[in-house]
Amino acid sequence: MAVDLAVVPVAGRGTRLLPLTKSQPKEMLPVGQKPVVQYVADELAEAGVRRLVFVTGPGKVAIENHFDINEELIARLREGGQEDMLAKLAFEREDLEYFYTRQRRQLGLGHAILCAKQIVSDQPFVVALGDSIIGLHAESDVVRRTIEIFDREQADAVIAFETVPRQDVVHYGIARPKAVHADFFELEDLVEKPSPADAPSCLAVAGRYVFRSSIFKFIEETPPGKGNEIQLTDAIGALLKSGGKVLGVPLTSGEHRYDIGNFASYFRAFVEFALQDPEYGTALREHTRQLLARLPASE
Ligand code: G1P
Repeated sequence: MAVDLAVVPVAGRGTRLLPLTKSQPKEMLPVGQKPVVQYVADELAEAGVRRLVFVTGPGKVAIENHFDINEELIARLREGGQEDMLAKLAFEREDLEYFYTRQRRQLGLGHAILCAKQIVSDQPFVVALGDSIIGLHAESDVVRRTIEIFDREQADAVIAFETVPRQDVVHYGIARPKAVHADFFELEDLVEKPSPADAPSCLAVAGRYVFRSSIFKFIEETPPGKGNEIQLTDAIGALLKSGGKVLGVPLTSGEHRYDIGNFASYFRAFVEFALQDPEYGTALREHTRQLLARLPASE
């Protein structure tokens, strides 16, 4: 069954990015020429997804506006002969359907996904975190690979993983892998944000998953875990314990995950995307070289 539906949770408050996120969603922050969530939608569309379900929260209406068709703006640009600007709105006319539902209480990522249950019904679906971009300018086919392996291996869930430095495992869901195959590995367990000493590996959940709708039952039965939140990781753990087939797909070396959830990695993402922007990158690289030459080097 072709997977053409994705749930994109965008309800998080973005507290680590204040004051930037006081009145705008972190998913709408610019990274180079586009807001974060547009890279996510582009990546999903590229992988064959045609229906996007956003799980939103307070203050997230800018995301809905972004994906809407702005007839007035289009007419104005057309009248003004600004074809180059019109081209930048091409994403509005892509053959995608958008659905919005709200997470009315902040009870964690697992709970956010559960909010999409009625819309998803019994279909298999992708989960793509709305604050993570995979690969420079989102040029990654990890979602396509994940869907392919999900179909081919008749899995219950397939998750993309990035290898992170051991000291960073505290921020992620971490895999305990077992058998390794050519383009995927089998999971024995998944642990949410372990300490470096307890981490079963350095393979971190990279914000892209494919599930059967059976995951909803496991989320419903999941009690609050780390941070007193209903963790998707714990529901996947329960799926594994019940004998479910959960597989991992490693990101390739060119598929870095840009996490737009904190300033350190947001700044890095913006700088990398801008420096390699097809239109402005060359001039910006030259400017940056001069700037760096003037700045004192820090130890
Ligand atoms: C969530 C997941 C975690 C995953 C991470 C990726 O954590 O719970 O397993 O590794 O996203 O970004 P959060 O960043 O919401 O704390």
